[in-house]
Amino acid sequence: MDKISLPKPDDWHLHLRDGQILESVIPATTRCFHRAIVMPNLIPPITTVDQALEYRHHIIEACPGDCGFDPLMTLYLTDLTTPDEVRRAAAEPHLHGVKLYPAGATTNSESGVTSLPDLMPTLEAMAETGLPLLVHGEVTDADIAVFDREAVFIEHVLEPLIEALPALKVVFEHVTTSQAVEFVKSAPANVAATVTAHHLLLNRNAMFKGGIRPHHYCLPVLKREQHRQALIAAAISGNSKFFLGTDSAPHPRSAKESACGCAGMYSAPVALEVYAQVFEDNGALDKLENFASRYGPRFYGLPVNSQNITLLRKDWQVPDTIQAGDEELVPLCAGETLSWRVQEEQ
Ligand code: NCD
Ligand code: ZN
Repeated sequence: MDKISLPKPDDWHLHLRDGQILESVIPATTRCFHRAIVMPNLIPPITTVDQALEYRHHIIEACPGDCGFDPLMTLYLTDLTTPDEVRRAAAEPHLHGVKLYPAGATTNSESGVTSLPDLMPTLEAMAETGLPLLVHGEVTDADIAVFDREAVFIEHVLEPLIEALPALKVVFEHVTTSQAVEFVKSAPANVAATVTAHHLLLNRNAMFKGGIRPHHYCLPVLKREQHRQALIAAAISGNSKFFLGTDSAPHPRSAKESACGCAGMYSAPVALEVYAQVFEDNGALDKLENFASRYGPRFYGLPVNSQNITLLRKDWQVPDTIQAGDEELVPLCAGETLSWRVQEEQ
């Protein structure tokens, strides 16, 4: 097969930032995704419906031409998020979720939640209104190894949460371990997960290949090969609880190549192509359409996109860098040759 046509996919977990970076990264997303769940971890974070709608406006303004891109906005859950704000969000058609960052878990999570049990009334309002909780699933305890933080989060936070609020819709974002896959599979239908292209493509050795590789550092951190295999099995299984979310997270090169490089991989320029490659390498190209275009809308209660896109088998070289004003961004697979490419719109 040299050509795959599918309904235009959506990205169910994306960082677009604002300002110059937003302008520089948005075309890579709109070329192959019709909608995206846009993460709210700006500085300052997007904590109110009004802020989310204003941010949405920036994104639409930065879009190339009349691409029709539909940003699906989210609120950043803090210790102060009220049930009223949740109800306002649930009533607003452009708001689609509330993001839980445990305080200190990842990039721009300083305003995140310090005690989830104290937010019960707010979470109850989400369960009542059907607004999904989008979870960065890692504990932050300094005495838990970085590689174990997701597995421990399941036991310490997610299991009790789902038991306390069985109706709450939960997306376990960017799952990285076999424990997360097993948990999502055995949870009720209102619990789903996104899977990134980079966690399907790379295991943790990629961070240390011939030296320290800051562009392969993200959170949750890359895991062992056995976990990557569990993610691939979940993504190609045809289980509708697992769908596409790139977690494309651009940072200026200077912030990545530093004594304390920040977390996040900029994958949007190659993400759909990498998913196609991984599905093909695992004999499951026929499963790509559901994973990329159908299971996400089904979980979020939205229609499948009516427009189609085409992936062509065609070798192409990923650029080493992408300019963002005075800064450079280094994309995932920089300088490498990929064998699938999204056909440019005519
Ligand atoms: C994300 C970012 O840079 O905003 N970084 C990352 O490593 N994935 C935040 C996040 O999703 O954890
Ligand atoms: Zn993210």
